[in-house]
Formats: sequence, structure tokens, C-alpha cells
Amino acid sequence: MLQIRLPKNSRLREGKRFTAPEGSGEVRTFRIYRWDPDLGGNPRMDTFEVDIDACGPMVLDAINTIKNEIDPSLTFRRSCREGICGSCSMNIQGTNTLACTTPIRDLKGDIIIYPLPHLPVVKDLVPDMTQFYEQYAAIRPWLRPGVLPDTSGAEQLQSREEREKLDGLYECILCACCSTSCPSYWWNGDRYLGPAILLQAYRWLADSRDGDTDTRLDELDDAFKLFRCHTILNCTATCPKGLNPALAIAETKKMLLKRARR
Ligand code: SF4
Ligand code: SF4
Ligand code: FES
Repeated sequence: MLQIRLPKNSRLREGKRFTAPEGSGEVRTFRIYRWDPDLGGNPRMDTFEVDIDACGPMVLDAINTIKNEIDPSLTFRRSCREGICGSCSMNIQGTNTLACTTPIRDLKGDIIIYPLPHLPVVKDLVPDMTQFYEQYAAIRPWLRPGVLPDTSGAEQLQSREEREKLDGLYECILCACCSTSCPSYWWNGDRYLGPAILLQAYRWLADSRDGDTDTRLDELDDAFKLFRCHTILNCTATCPKGLNPALAIAETKKMLLKRARR
């Protein structure tokens, strides 16, 4: 798993400390980034001891326990708790990943949790995803069939081989773990689309039913939007769904090259 070097011995000031009651089972310590815009001031790290024998096995279970039983003001996103919605992405022990699919017992020592890096923080573990979603909308992520091969109104068929080209693409849950681990996105996120959005863009380029390939390629053919990827591969190393955004980016570049040679 890709480790992003966030400060382990955080320079953030220490905040509140909540100790587990006597008689608890196995206790693990969670150190969690806190910042509340209504209070202002600098962020802090709060420390929570959690009896992990009394909660579910995943980091999200522990965070839910903290919110439900220790500090209701702790703020984070989650929905499906099954690795499907992409809401609970955060930086856990230096890795961008999903809290709901990360087993607590796989982690050693204190469990240090930050929001996804290099995004503005709304509150605690909630990053501002506005730019990310605007970039997603900008690629117009829906089927644009153009002139249909069959105009009878019948279903547009796709062969088994054509459908297989979407494997490794359609599974993306837009959690942004990859984009927020990408140095190019950190420094040029306002102009570079980043690996998540580029994987989504390629998902439509690879779809045999889509008829707007040239427009899609025209819109990506830009020194920043696509070519700011320097093949550092952080994105692929961090994806909690095991996808390969760097490959999707390379395939898109190949399509542009092929088109230029035509
Ligand atoms: S490619 Fe992986 S890390 Fe990136 S948004 Fe999709 S699921 Fe998340
Ligand atoms: S391969 Fe490209 S998108 Fe992936 S981390 Fe590196 S620069 Fe970013
Ligand atoms: S809560 Fe949906 S992916 Fe974690």
C-alpha cells in the first residue's frame, strides 16, 4: 500500500484525550485530525481509546463508535459501509483508503487518521470535493451514442469482448483516493484532471457503444488536463478497489497518438 508521508509525529497541537473505561477488552488508540470552521483556530489531533472487542472490525466501525459513544461532534462521511459509495475515503496510517474496508487489526500502533490530503477541509475528516465533482461533470460522463448503428429503436448490442474492455474501469467509485495521492494533482489540481477523472474519461472512450470519441479526445488533448500525468503511479498504488488509473491514462495518450498519426 502506498504511504503518503504525512507527519507521524504531528506538529498539530494535541487536543482532547478520551481514555477507555476500566474493564474494556482490547483497547486501540485512534488519533484523529479535528478542525471546526465555527471555532476557527488551528487544527488539532484528538486521541480516542476504543475497545475494539466491542465494535465491528473495520476502522469505520471504530469511528462510528467514537461518534456514537464518545464525541458526537466528530464529523466524517460514510454511507454504504461496503466499499461501494466511496464516501468514507480518508488518510489512515499514511494511506488514502476507505475506512469501511480497512480492518483495524491489520494496522499496527496508534491509528492516525487525517482527511484526504491536499483538499480544503470542510470539517474534521470531511474534505471539500467541489472541484473534483466539477471536473467529473466537465467530462460529461454519460453515453453519447452519436449516430446509432441501428435506428430501429432496438437495444444497441455489445459483444462479450467489447464489454470486457470496461472491466477495471466501471468499478471506480469516485472515492478520490488516487487523485489526492497524485503529486501532479496536488500542485495543479485546478488544471490537471487527475487520475480518477481521467480513468472515468477513458471508461467512455473504451465503450464500443459511445459515438463521441473524437470530441472526448479533443477535450482531453491539453498540456495540463491530461499530459500533466508524469507516470509516478501513486494513483495505482493507492486505489482501494485495485484499479489502475495510470494505465487508463496511458491508453488515452495512446489513442491520441494513434489519431495524430492517421
Ligand atoms: S480509481 Fe480507485 S482510487 Fe481512484 S477514484 Fe476510482 S476507485 Fe477511487
Ligand atoms: S501516474 Fe499520473 S495520475 Fe497517477 S499518480 Fe502519477 S502523475 Fe498522478
Ligand atoms: S462507507 Fe461507502 S465506501 Fe466506505
